[in-house]
Amino acid sequence: MRFKDKVVIITGAGRGIGQVMAVGFAAEGASVLINEIDRGPAEETLGKIKDKGGIAAISIGSVTDRDYVESMVDHAVKEFGTVDILVNNAGITRTAMILKMSDEQWDQVIDVNLRGVFICMQEVGRVYVKKAKENPDARCNGKIVNITSVAGLRGTVGQINYGAAKAGVIGLTMSGAREWGRYKVNVNAVAFGVVETRLTETIRKDPKFSEIYRSEIVLGRFAKPEEVVPSVLFLSSSDADYITGEVLNVTGGLHIGF
Ligand SMILES: NC(=O)c1ccc[n+]([C@@H]2O[C@H](COP(=O)([O-])OP(=O)(O)OC[C@H]3O[C@@H](n4cnc5c(N)ncnc54)[C@H](O)[C@@H]3O)[C@@H](O)[C@H]2O)c1
Repeated sequence: MRFKDKVVIITGAGRGIGQVMAVGFAAEGASVLINEIDRGPAEETLGKIKDKGGIAAISIGSVTDRDYVESMVDHAVKEFGTVDILVNNAGITRTAMILKMSDEQWDQVIDVNLRGVFICMQEVGRVYVKKAKENPDARCNGKIVNITSVAGLRGTVGQINYGAAKAGVIGLTMSGAREWGRYKVNVNAVAFGVVETRLTETIRKDPKFSEIYRSEIVLGRFAKPEEVVPSVLFLSSSDADYITGEVLNVTGGLHIGF
């Protein structure tokens, strides 16, 4: 029960990795605010948590909408008392080769995957900084875990927008860690490789692409969401109070593969 009495906001928690994360946090005692742009999947996550006797609520809206994000943070504070952990997990892809990519595809991916992370960090950060000013001697006043990708470290074909956004998340993580260290706020990132979710369906179902990717993964296989989520729980826990500005690669070795 590492997260007993802790409040976590997880963005994009209706599907894939975010859903497994939400269930994992709740199973260890956290009160979870499930952010999602789509109501149906958010309700599914809520159901899974409630079925196991966990505590959670839903907040529907886009991480790109400043007013909404402000109200999402207020919701967490009103319903659960504070925010202790933010996981910036919401993400999208809009795939096209460089010369064929439209401005719209570029903007959409940067907006959700990079600007959305900034907005959520900023709005949750206001709660953390207030806590820090009230508890100057606290060991930790809040944790932020930003989800990035191997695409932000070594690039990717057909997703220059996604690679740029995910590399941006790494810079944003380190800057956040530097600026908020004095408030005892830990800001870290986790970079995933290829995880079996709807986001990677096209890559995994195409035999040619699938083989190319698999051949570059040192461990030789794609990950299940359940295998990558423990890294996020660790960085969110008090075991990681002395870790900040770190990018943890959970890629099966794809980040060092050929
Ligand atoms: N699956 C992978 O292999 C992989 C690899 C590296 C990084 N990632 C990252 O992990 C995170 C989770 O991805 P996933 O594979 O579970 O994808 P997914 O598509 O299964 O889940 C992402 C969720 O985010 C939600 N979402 C999208 N835009 C949103 C917005 N504007 N506001 C709120 N919610 C929004 C979606 O509705 C969806 O439920 C993403 O940041 C993704 O880039 C995934």
